[in-house]
Amino acid sequence: MTQSKSRITAIGTYVPAKILSNADLEKLVDTSDEWIVQRTGMRERRIAEPDQFVSDLAVEAVNDMVRRYGVEVKDADMILVATSTPDYSFPSTASRVQAKLGIQSTGALDLNAACAGFTYALQLADGLITSGIYRKVIVVGAETLSKITDYTDRTTCVLFGDGAGAVLVERDDESPAFIASISGTFGEGGIHLYKTALSERMDGQELKSGCLVQNGREIYKWAVRNIPEGMRVLLERGNMSAEEVDWFVPHSANLRMIEAICERGPVPMDRTLTSVEYRGNTSAASIPLALQLAVDEGRLHAGHHVLLYGFGGGMTYAGSLLRWTI
Ligand code: ACO
Repeated sequence: MTQSKSRITAIGTYVPAKILSNADLEKLVDTSDEWIVQRTGMRERRIAEPDQFVSDLAVEAVNDMVRRYGVEVKDADMILVATSTPDYSFPSTASRVQAKLGIQSTGALDLNAACAGFTYALQLADGLITSGIYRKVIVVGAETLSKITDYTDRTTCVLFGDGAGAVLVERDDESPAFIASISGTFGEGGIHLYKTALSERMDGQELKSGCLVQNGREIYKWAVRNIPEGMRVLLERGNMSAEEVDWFVPHSANLRMIEAICERGPVPMDRTLTSVEYRGNTSAASIPLALQLAVDEGRLHAGHHVLLYGFGGGMTYAGSLLRWTI
């Protein structure tokens, strides 16, 4: 693997003010706080306003990053936005982020890899910088999943929330921080998690239209079976032992699923960071939200080794091993 020449130099996040609690969900569908906590570990999620869209959340997250770290983003070479809930099919959400931030000259690109989007975007940012093409890339994971959630379906509506996280990835020849990467896909399983676009019939199969559709059991089994092995391969590629990993940061899909992954995987639950309890499943935003919470709580420090692992719709996954440097 080529030696990385980049590192994360700043992080920022944003979640909408409106809270959707388990008690609120009890009023919408036949569910209970007890069932939700026991099966998912979730207590609250944040919900965007009707006129608040992914580009708005993304811009807030970038502005938060600028406020916290005093970084300059006006000279960014590229904006990558990972999302499954773009404002439009086109123009890209990244183009709208560029306009709203008033960055004069930058590339802008959306990335769709569902809940693995943020880690895929990080790998691309590091690759673009390490290859010498660019020096500074803004990476955003942002979602308004509430806008594609069916609030009459108790099997999905208790899970999803809205939010955004941004990091800045910059060239650093002296102190690069990306150690190893992994990605893989099981497209045959894509039917287990989808939202239709152009047709309610695909490959001769009738689909449910309009909202997110999920076969939770199948995703659960796939993730718990595959991620522990993927983590081991990633550690091997980075020539690191599991003991050297300070924090495992998986996509915050479901706390019980993460516990099952940790039981089978190389890094235990007590060295795992999530954002699931008070943010729900925020897809591409969940990993930066977990990182930011850990920074704010004083748990994640410069010098720590972190293993990020996104997975979900596709079904696809991307993992990155890196040194935290801020
Ligand atoms: N409240 C009460 N009961 C419920 C609810 C609810 N909200 N939802 C389902 N149930 C019931 C079901 O109807 C079923 O009842 P039955 O036995 O009478 O038929 C029972 O609970 C068990 O249902 P299962 O679907 O088998 O429940 P399971 O234990 O598998 O938990 C869950 C469901 C939480 C969705 C779990 O499967 C899961 O988290 N899977 C992973 C999902 C995931 O990670 N998705 C995100 C991928 S990332 C992305 O790209 C968006």
